[in-house]
Amino acid sequence: MLENDIQEILFTEEQLKNRVAEIARQIEADYSGQEIMFVGILRGSFVFLADLCREVKLPCTLDFMSVSSYGGGTTSSGQIQIIKDLSEDITGRNVIVVEDILDSGNTLSYLLNILEHRHPASVRLCALLDKPDRRTKPVELHYCGFSIPDAFVVGYGLDYAEKYRSLPYIGILKPEIYGGE
Ligand code: IMP
Ligand code: MG
Repeated sequence: MLENDIQEILFTEEQLKNRVAEIARQIEADYSGQEIMFVGILRGSFVFLADLCREVKLPCTLDFMSVSSYGGGTTSSGQIQIIKDLSEDITGRNVIVVEDILDSGNTLSYLLNILEHRHPASVRLCALLDKPDRRTKPVELHYCGFSIPDAFVVGYGLDYAEKYRSLPYIGILKPEIYGGE
C-alpha cells in the first residue's frame, strides 16, 4: 500500500481544496477582464493545475512544458533540459507558470528566463509548495499555496521515482524509502 510509505500527512484533501480556492480568488482579482494562459510544468503540476483552472472563473488557455532536473533521486542535478516545449506562442499573453514545488529554484529560474525572452505580456509564477530553506537561485513567487520545511513530500501530483502522484493528499515520504536518514 502506498499509504504505508507516508510518515505524516502535511495537507489533507480538504486543506488543498480550500487553499486552491483562495489562490484562484487572488488570480481572479489580479487578472480581472483579462485572459490567462496557464503553463503547467509536467508532470508534477498536473493535479494542482487541473483543480486550479477549474476554480479560476476567467477565460484561460492551457499549455504544458516538460523539463528534466531530478532524474530518479531527491536532489536537483542542476542540469536542466527542455524535454517538451510549449505548443503555443506566448507573445503578448498573460502567462502563469504553474509548478508543483519550488525547491532550489534551478528549474524555474532557467525556465522563467526562457519564457521572458519570448515576449509575453506578463509572466508570473504559481507554485503549490515552497521550500524556501533550499533556495540557491532567487525566484519571484507570485502565488504560493504553502511554505513547507525541508522534507521530501509526495502526493497530489508530486512523485518519488514516478510513484505516489495519485495520492489525494500531500505527505512526507518516510526517509527509508529513498535511503535517507
Ligand atoms: P528545483 O529545480 O530544485 O527547484 O526543483 C524543482 C522540482 O524538483 C519540482 O518541480 C519537483 O519536481 C522536484 N521536487 C523538489 N522537491 C520535491 C519534493 O519534496 N517532492 C517531490 N518532488 C520534489
Ligand atoms: Mg518531479
